[in-house]
Amino acid sequence: MDIATNKTEYAQEFENLAILFGVNESFKLVHNEREDNGVLTEEFALAMDDKTLSKSFSFSLEGNLSELKEKSVKKRKVKVFLYDALSQMLGKVLPWGSLTGIRPTKLARDMIESGEIKESIVSEVFERELRVSRNKAKLVPMILRNQRCIIRNDNLVDLYINIPVCPTRCYYCSFISNELSRVKDKLGLYLDCLIKEISAMREIIARKAYIVRTIYIGGGTPSILSEEQLDRLLGELNFPVTEFTVECGRPDTITAGKLDVLKKYGVTRISINPQTFCEATLKRIGRQTKNAQVLESYSLALQRGFVVNMDIIAGLAGEKLGVFKRTIKTLLELSPDNITVHTLSVKNGSILKNEGATDNGVSAMVDFAQKALLENGYKPYYLYRQKNQLGGLENVGYFKDDKVCIFNIDSMEETNSILACGAGAMSKRIYSTEKRIERQSNAKFIEDYISRIDEIIEKKKEFFK
Ligand SMILES: C[S@@+](CC[C@H](N)C(=O)[O-])C[C@H]1O[C@@H](n2cnc3c(N)ncnc32)[C@H](O)[C@@H]1O
Ligand code: SF4
Repeated sequence: MDIATNKTEYAQEFENLAILFGVNESFKLVHNEREDNGVLTEEFALAMDDKTLSKSFSFSLEGNLSELKEKSVKKRKVKVFLYDALSQMLGKVLPWGSLTGIRPTKLARDMIESGEIKESIVSEVFERELRVSRNKAKLVPMILRNQRCIIRNDNLVDLYINIPVCPTRCYYCSFISNELSRVKDKLGLYLDCLIKEISAMREIIARKAYIVRTIYIGGGTPSILSEEQLDRLLGELNFPVTEFTVECGRPDTITAGKLDVLKKYGVTRISINPQTFCEATLKRIGRQTKNAQVLESYSLALQRGFVVNMDIIAGLAGEKLGVFKRTIKTLLELSPDNITVHTLSVKNGSILKNEGATDNGVSAMVDFAQKALLENGYKPYYLYRQKNQLGGLENVGYFKDDKVCIFNIDSMEETNSILACGAGAMSKRIYSTEKRIERQSNAKFIEDYISRIDEIIEKKKEFFK
């Protein structure tokens, strides 16, 4: 693939769109932007295999737009134009049309808040102007409606704690996480450092008069910690929060004793993730769990009154629509409060690449899940897309009975600052009046995190000064 443009800030977006269209090595794109008396002319020349296509278009922007908005509106128009050209050349359409690199719901919210469009016409504008498919465009306003718990207030923050350790590595996984056997002897030291960072966070929170609204302990697999380790960690997190989640994704790490510790410290929500209910697939994807473990840990969680989320993935190696439908059917029988439907993202970091799922096949799975969940009282409440998701699809979180996860909404919509602790954790600081977001990442690997903890804490203090 060869992309040449005289507007270097567009190169990445053009490449992302071309990748979503599945172009091959021979693909070439040349783009030129010229400005003449306030009129912009965009010229594209596309070539792939034996096909070539040249297109150009001109437009002038309305004078009353702010400079920032002008830039993003222009970029959007240019991408739609490239989308149309690629679509024409390759005879293909994408579920999310010209959208890449931005969360669809965040874009919709920006467009509404800036007065560009009214909420009532979001799906129409997404479909008509951004080339989003009707089914996906309809999802966007539904999600906006279900995100009413967003409270914009620069003093209201979320706290995230990362435990990047898992019992074993699932072959499809692209997250940075360590197998327990590799880091077992460092876990105690890791917790010492984590607790040191949490203490520094506590000082920041007090100094800035922040109010912690939610806590989320994610990973990896936080439930891999022993009862004693969980007791020690949770004992440090004594904030009176509205919502407290601990990811217990792998059911083979859950015990009644651990859930009792979570309950003792006020945890309100956990996740128990089947990914699929087909045990042959579980074996194929190197996930050493059994359906019986999901059922047993779910029953333990319900006995203790936790809100439960279950994650599944569409497009797992070797799975066809029929198998995926059985997973949805089982989920609906269990009826957890939250269900998150992911589409497989094929990344370099994972052991197993895509095996067999076609774009059309996975799209039918995601459509089936959406229809079945909506028909059974679930509502979509957050959505995000990752690079290299099969078919250019998305991940959607569903809830029932008003049990949304506030942290998921805050982090996806980037409405509240997040103070994040642990290896690989990323803090975000939202400056809402200036409409600006700053991000800061901790050292990715456990060993570096441990050896650089004092420096990490100093940087964190500076970041939240
Ligand atoms: C950060 S992981 C942690 C969850 C937990 N460790 C577990 O495995 O149950 C969160 C979720 O991301 C999803 N996920 C992981 N790798 C993925 C991939 N390559 N494509 C799509 N979803 C993926 C899985 O559904 C997983 O439950
Ligand atoms: S999917 Fe979860 S358990 Fe599996 S390797 Fe990734 S983070 Fe760990």
